[in-house]
Amino acid sequence: MPDVIHAQRHAKRYESHKYWGRKPANVIRQYIAQYSRPGDLVLDPFCGSGVTLFEALALGRNAVGYDLNPVACFISENLLAREVDTLAFQKTGEAIIKRVAEAFPYYKVGCTCGNVGNLVNAVWQDGQYLAKYYDCPRCGYKMAAVTPFDRQILEQVALSETVWYPQNELPPNADARYVHELFTPRNLLALGLLLQEIKEVQDETSRNLLLYTFTANVAFAARLIPVNEKRFRQGRNCSGVWGFKRFWLPHFHVENNVFRYFRNRLARTAAAKAETNGLLAGRQATAKVINRSATCLAELADESVDFILTDPPFGDMIPYLDLSTLWNAWLQFGVDPAAEILIAPGRDEQNYYHQVLTVFQECRRVLKEGRFLVVAFNHKGLRAWHLLLGAIRQAGFTLQECLPAQDGEVSFTQTTSGAKGALRGYFIYVFQKSQPSGVEAGASLSLAEARARIEGELVNFVAGRPRSLTEIYHHLIPFTVNHNLLHEGLADNTIERLLEKRCRLVTQEESRVIEGERASLKSYYWALDEAVAGENRLS
Ligand SMILES: C[S@@+](CC[C@H](N)C(=O)[O-])C[C@H]1O[C@@H](n2cnc3c(N)ncnc32)[C@H](O)[C@@H]1O
Ligand SMILES: [Zn+2]
Repeated sequence: MPDVIHAQRHAKRYESHKYWGRKPANVIRQYIAQYSRPGDLVLDPFCGSGVTLFEALALGRNAVGYDLNPVACFISENLLAREVDTLAFQKTGEAIIKRVAEAFPYYKVGCTCGNVGNLVNAVWQDGQYLAKYYDCPRCGYKMAAVTPFDRQILEQVALSETVWYPQNELPPNADARYVHELFTPRNLLALGLLLQEIKEVQDETSRNLLLYTFTANVAFAARLIPVNEKRFRQGRNCSGVWGFKRFWLPHFHVENNVFRYFRNRLARTAAAKAETNGLLAGRQATAKVINRSATCLAELADESVDFILTDPPFGDMIPYLDLSTLWNAWLQFGVDPAAEILIAPGRDEQNYYHQVLTVFQECRRVLKEGRFLVVAFNHKGLRAWHLLLGAIRQAGFTLQECLPAQDGEVSFTQTTSGAKGALRGYFIYVFQKSQPSGVEAGASLSLAEARARIEGELVNFVAGRPRSLTEIYHHLIPFTVNHNLLHEGLADNTIERLLEKRCRLVTQEESRVIEGERASLKSYYWALDEAVAGENRLS
């Protein structure tokens, strides 16, 4: 395998529903192909939205996945559904939309020409209905100011019938207390009516895929979507994107027409299922998804699994359950937050270590002798690495290899965030089942020696030319792990402190096209600080 594994763009099947921390399918596929055979059983104890499970199945392996998050299991199951009649599904969805939309007068808007148009999105600023982008039968698509007619319509919503909607509490860092407060009354009503109709669908596969389409769309129907200001000024559809790691309510936001956006999503779900139908056609293998904590893999017998591939939740610091509140609430799925494995401020490190150890002990129990465990992980802190790798080794695995991998897509927020450059990509660890060591494996060198070796390697690496933070981590982490330098005394910020000691930050302007728009980006690189290097030479 090459030193750096390059990811490809997400395929259609992974673009129809958002989930956080999804790993590129081509990378996953490559590992499954290398470490297992057709007919084998592949396990992912933290399956998330199901990339491992699907790719395994598509390669003719049987697959089993666990996830604590009910909506993750739901997304996986819909991904894995096979022989879906995509035409029938789309027809059912279209018919529902037509019925609900025709009976819903509240997206009507007054056009400057005197006609009545259809809302695409309403633009709100600090609670004021500012403008609307709509489709007029005479003038086409247009942006215009709000009229008295439009305000009257909104007043009618308040007086209209009520439907069921979720009233669950949101995580403490959200900008609202309850789920329903994330929506305008108009969109809450539209969503409630749509959901009611979807629940009536008889065919289970279609019903689930419609619910999946519903949750894929629900954030876009909320007040969570900022206005794209440039497009707003140009008088175009100005709906922004939802890419935030908490429920943030922007002051300047859009209110998207639920039915229009749902209809677009319907086509995306259908395209995704057409793709999965093709990839799974004729496959004998089966897949199973279990909604429970991976600390207990009771469904699996000892030595029944051929290969384990996973992307554990503890590296990326993403609070999966919190972020999924919106989806779980609409689908009325109950969650068990106490069982979530997460490194976060205020969480007990010892308890975390124990949960991780328990999961990997279970993994060892179910894995056949001599077989492999591949783990993807992304974290800057050496302390986190020490904990994770310590737990895996203690459970009875030997590290074979550590490789950096690049993320598939670069999003706008990723490239612009982080003054010193965000860490992109992640690492792939290959372990083999061995004897449990009984003790936490540690470095054989002293802390000072370990730190000096890491510092020496850093200096060598940046001496040739300045390097980005991502390049530096992608070089130093495998070095540290492969040379057994992960001393337990190393702090989370050891690499950052060494950077500050030996290097200086240089910037470079770059012009790039991201998400269809040209942007000028500042890139940050770390260069060897010659002054410091010179000083060292003298001493
Ligand atoms: C990095 S994500 C996996 C993403 C996945 N590779 C994908 O393709 O979508 C980690 C997952 O671990 C789950 N998780 C957290 N604690 C868990 C536990 N105790 N047992 C099982 N799953 C857990 C989270 O819900 C999350 O979906
Ligand atoms: Zn008009």
